[in-house]
Amino acid sequence: EKVSLWGGRFAGGPSDALAALSKSTHFDWRLAPYDIAGSRAHTRVLHGAGLLDETTRDAMLAGLDTLLADVLSGDFAPGEDDEDVHTALERGLIERAGADVGGRLRAGRSRNDQVATLFRMYLRDHARVVAEHLLAVVAALVEQSAAHPEAAMPGRTHLQHAQPVLLAHHLLAHAWPLLRDVERLRHWDARTSLSPYGSGALAGSSLGLDPEAVASDLGFAGSVENSIDGTAARDFVAELSFVCAMAAVDISRLSEEVILWATKEFGFVTLDDSYSTGSSIMPQKKNPDVAELARGKAGRLIGDLAGLLATLKALPLAYNRDLQEDKEPVFDAVDTLELVLPAVAGMVATLRFDTERMASLAPQGFSLATDVAEWLVREGVPFRVAHEVAGACVRVCEERGIELWDLSDDDLAEISPHLTPAVREVLSVEGSLASRDAKGGTAPVRVAEQLQRVRETHADL
Ligand code: ARG
Repeated sequence: EKVSLWGGRFAGGPSDALAALSKSTHFDWRLAPYDIAGSRAHTRVLHGAGLLDETTRDAMLAGLDTLLADVLSGDFAPGEDDEDVHTALERGLIERAGADVGGRLRAGRSRNDQVATLFRMYLRDHARVVAEHLLAVVAALVEQSAAHPEAAMPGRTHLQHAQPVLLAHHLLAHAWPLLRDVERLRHWDARTSLSPYGSGALAGSSLGLDPEAVASDLGFAGSVENSIDGTAARDFVAELSFVCAMAAVDISRLSEEVILWATKEFGFVTLDDSYSTGSSIMPQKKNPDVAELARGKAGRLIGDLAGLLATLKALPLAYNRDLQEDKEPVFDAVDTLELVLPAVAGMVATLRFDTERMASLAPQGFSLATDVAEWLVREGVPFRVAHEVAGACVRVCEERGIELWDLSDDDLAEISPHLTPAVREVLSVEGSLASRDAKGGTAPVRVAEQLQRVRETHADL
């Protein structure tokens, strides 16, 4: 016979179809250790409020200890008739501590405040894991940047050659967004450090239980100010889903570049064998599957966030059963990142850059034209004119199939009297890089300082 939590009012148990629909143990079982931690804290406040004598309290705590050990060893698992993790664990406790002890635990709490609390605990733990994985990707980018302090590459806008930049500058441009994602996780954690335990079903508890005591017992900074908010709010889930999706998108942009760089046409990087795959038919193939899967899975995380927001939209206060749909998307987001990030960190750490090829392509596509224009400005020419003159240089070169530095003194003079042979001093990648020496620029001295600041930020997070 099915045991339900609400037997008194009902003549019979749920239909098979309802039971099947209701069931969540296949995804919420991962909350079991947190549920037991919550029950231990709840046992203590029940005792504190005079609702459990010492003997019963100790029997309850011992029963919960045995239950936790059995959950961790796999000896206790949810059964066919258990609706959710909370129901299953109550059954497990009663089997271990007896109905008289186990049956007292539910006083003054509801699955509504329970699940809101456990979910926060679980997500806070995993947000920390995700942050560590993100920091490992940043560390790989830092290592690669430090290993290539002088290497130049074509910087692009619209995927077209734009201006030469340092490879390290480019790699660090991928590190900063990831550091901000970690910062977002830290700020989210501080906001999520409030325990809803004691909110009860929605209105709070009448039994003199102390929510602050439970909160500190469970590692929260405090308890929520409003029991309705405590049981109904899921913005902490949506916010974490967003940060996960954002991190996945940031990783996807890095991955896309690795995929491009590994093509024959770019030829910028070689992937390590341990981070690439072959083809079952084409013997020569070496595929960037890590980067492609990371790019592909970003789509899942965007879907996880969108699905969750759609579930939350227009839900009236307080708890609604719809909220049971809050878990799978964010579990998927976190699981996916925990799978993707270590692979991406390894892929980045083992990339081999063809710095010669990158450097030789850096000035191609007339990427020094801006340097010509800015040289003219330093010579006192208005930028509007300077832009025209540099553009004319490009046009002449394009017509003749030559590069800017191939223009003769006569060519230069013919294009504009402002163009003296001295302009050649900026027609080199080194000169161009070194000249962009304001804070945030790609000059090697500035990038070395930037690398130091990335390291400091990394260490502070
Ligand atoms: N399993 C539910 C959830 O995850 C918690 C139970 C609350 N159910 C209820 N009928 N009040 O949201």
